[in-house]
Amino acid sequence: MTKTDLLIINAKQLICPSDDENKKPELKIIENGAIACSQGKIVAAGHSTEITEKFQAKDVFDATGKVVAPGFVDPHTHPVFFGTREDEFELRNSGKSYADIAKAGGGIRFSVRQLRQASKEQLIEHALPYLDQFIKNGTTTIEAKSGYGLTFNDEIKSLEVIRELNKIHPIDLVPTFLGAHEIPDEYRDRKQEYIKIVTEEMIPHVAEEGLAEFCDIFCESHVYNTDDTELILTAARKAGLKLKIHSDQLSSGGGTEIAAQLGAVSADHLDHVNSESIQSLKLSGTVPVLLPGAVFFLGLQKYAPARKMLDQGLPVALATDFNPGSCMTQSMPLMMTLASIYMGMKPDEVWLAATAHAARAISRSDSIGILKSGAQADIVIWNIPNLQYLPYHFGINHVDTVIKNGQILN
Ligand code: NIG
Ligand code: FE
Repeated sequence: MTKTDLLIINAKQLICPSDDENKKPELKIIENGAIACSQGKIVAAGHSTEITEKFQAKDVFDATGKVVAPGFVDPHTHPVFFGTREDEFELRNSGKSYADIAKAGGGIRFSVRQLRQASKEQLIEHALPYLDQFIKNGTTTIEAKSGYGLTFNDEIKSLEVIRELNKIHPIDLVPTFLGAHEIPDEYRDRKQEYIKIVTEEMIPHVAEEGLAEFCDIFCESHVYNTDDTELILTAARKAGLKLKIHSDQLSSGGGTEIAAQLGAVSADHLDHVNSESIQSLKLSGTVPVLLPGAVFFLGLQKYAPARKMLDQGLPVALATDFNPGSCMTQSMPLMMTLASIYMGMKPDEVWLAATAHAARAISRSDSIGILKSGAQADIVIWNIPNLQYLPYHFGINHVDTVIKNGQILN
């Protein structure tokens, strides 16, 4: 008998996403499953009889009747902002578009003005309850972007806030620099000057200080075009940052292909992506991160062509895009419901998209989003009878218990 710290036994279903990048992704379901954890890591996962024959622990969690799965990975969020935008939501619901609001100085630019006035301490205080909600809804790792500062100091401040949040909150945050999220008010008619600051001052500093792992950009005709995108992502790559992109969200541009050519780890949104761009993602191994919550919350009709991507074997991931403007939710289960209804994704596909594929979108496929020996013990126990049930019974929190690095959180 091997002694471990924690045993989870008798799970009605244990959901084990595959992590092998070379094989067709699949979800293995173990009926009456169990997991053994030690020192924050998974030691073994399998049938309850097999696990209890080999392992013992002083803490035993009986998951009878419940589903046990890896904690969700949310690979696209904007959690560092100050103040919310419910008035803008109301304006949109009475007919104003997201782009109209942005052009009038609202949207991201409103959030930028707010963030610039906030201290690091205030931003941390503001973000913490939002992080609690991620955990409460079954997410144990998020990618977290800057992008509401848009000056050297305010972008660094945002990334330092992310670093601090990662230290003081149980959730893991993977930092992304998004200095090219909007064109700041003071550079509206001299965008090139701002791009120079991004590429020559911000990116080198961020990379040198290890403040971000990824660099992202909002590539859209009213913000950064494909030339700007190439310039900024090339500078980021040269500095040693991995790449991401917001592309083909509101219209079809060439951003996705540029990001793929530069070896981006993920390309996100893709609601208006075309066949050539899908092909380029396949060639480069770039993960498509789809954000159906933003389409839904903006009241738009065109969802990303997930079926087309899945049928070509792409590892489609889902994310919330949590931010105060285009998607104010931390719920991955809600994304799974939207992906099922509007993008034709199947139950096993939405689970994979929220776990193993999401982990791949932030270069973490060896350690999270999976339940295998050596992986981080980030585990969620769900009060549901089977995996199909989660996207089906929507708008309700079905989380029973969250385990982060082997520790029971609630
Ligand atoms: O991913 N598309 C650009 N950025 C965010 C929206 C941010 C905001 O509106 O505050 C997005 O949807
Ligand atoms: Fe986003």
